[in-house]
Amino acid sequence: MTLTASSAANARRVHIKSFGCQMNVYDSQRMADVADKEGYAATDRVEDADLVILNTCHIRERASEKIYSELGKIRELKQARAAQGQGTTIVVAGCVAQAEGREILRRQSAVDLVVGPQNYHRLPDLIARARVERVVDTDFPAEDKFDLLPAPSREAVRARGVSAFVTVQEGCDKFCAFCVVPYTRGSETSRPVGKVLDEIARLADAGAREFTLLGQNVNAYHGLEERRDTDLAALLERAANIPGVLRLRYATSHPLDMNEALIRAHAENDKLAPYLHLPIQSGSDRILAAMNRRHTASDYLRIVDRVRAARPDIAFSSDFIVGFPGETDADFRATLALVDEVGFASAYAFKYSARPGTPAAAANDAIAEDVKVARHAALFERLEALRLAFNRACVGKRFGVVFDKRGRHEGQMIGRSPFMQAVNATVPAGRIGEMVEVEIVEVRPNSLRAQLVTAPS
Ligand code: 5AD
Ligand code: SF4
Repeated sequence: MTLTASSAANARRVHIKSFGCQMNVYDSQRMADVADKEGYAATDRVEDADLVILNTCHIRERASEKIYSELGKIRELKQARAAQGQGTTIVVAGCVAQAEGREILRRQSAVDLVVGPQNYHRLPDLIARARVERVVDTDFPAEDKFDLLPAPSREAVRARGVSAFVTVQEGCDKFCAFCVVPYTRGSETSRPVGKVLDEIARLADAGAREFTLLGQNVNAYHGLEERRDTDLAALLERAANIPGVLRLRYATSHPLDMNEALIRAHAENDKLAPYLHLPIQSGSDRILAAMNRRHTASDYLRIVDRVRAARPDIAFSSDFIVGFPGETDADFRATLALVDEVGFASAYAFKYSARPGTPAAAANDAIAEDVKVARHAALFERLEALRLAFNRACVGKRFGVVFDKRGRHEGQMIGRSPFMQAVNATVPAGRIGEMVEVEIVEVRPNSLRAQLVTAPS
């Protein structure tokens, strides 16, 4: 995703490109706020930018390698700009920066600065230094970056639409055998309750209406408030009472941290969307153990039952990895069986890729690429069939949607259903940012078409 904002004619310009998860999207916004305060106007034309920031993802090999091909293109732009007497500072931020550090400078001579996710508050200083010498900052600093990052301007909040991300928790202590996150994002930390609520209130005051609370392990949230430990359910309850907040979501969760209070919140917190992204990765207990997930398939199914008892219409989403070392046909069949049993409304399937430094990377029972490809295709097909069935079952249903983005056709706007599907409808301009009651009238491949139920005011 690329960030845009108003641009003054002669201002210095920044172009930020975000890869990977929603936490990176949030971080990119915070970096845009830093750049804005430093006098950089945002541009979506990379060739016009004096400052280019790639916010990178390290989760799978393909995501990581994409950065180097992107940097190759940016290097040519930097050379073309230099030929016209224009300087360009190239920054690699995010999880590849954290994981590879100085190696990035070695592999790509155009890069001026490598900065890890914990150090974005230091960007003004780092960028100034990077004009003189090449710089790497991948420390885990003592100070809290959130205390030092500037708040977005009201214009920036408005330009980002009614849907806002707020990171409430970072890092992970679970150490799944396949995963780089504990190494790139460090150990689990939660932001204090008051700071999170202040940020939500400020965003709501500037026009944001839907909030997704983010964390690599968001349901492990345990923020402090007057020395009292506060869990995610309590944080969501407090957030629901902030004026302007119309809908709440949270991502991403680990099954081990689905506590009773959070399950109850799905019954009791009327702002909380009936949607839960709860990765399981595999339906085979043998593979779950090898992945160090510390739960079984039936533990997961029990959680699904409890959440459904609290909120019968809830839509489940998940992540799956196929081709983890040692995965047999029987293990894979167990995954397909679990998919059918839960009936996911949407889910993501990934082919396992060995990541440097993770325990699973040392395994000697790797699965052949053609087997991975076949399993991925079979799982994807099954998940797509379930997604389409879920979408079809929505026809005739009524629910609230907050619209904000312009659709392809005149007067058409796009918003998200309570179940995270894209919904488009013809909405009068005066009702943008309101919770509007709609009825679903048609299913399209990647969206639902709706009509307004309430008379326009
Ligand atoms: N290979 C493939 N997929 C991975 N994921 C995490 N690490 C790997 C890996 N090494 C997937 C998991 C996780 C999602 C964000 O990415 O499914 O939930
Ligand atoms: Fe990618 Fe994980 Fe980093 Fe997000 S936290 S950008 S998914 S490696």
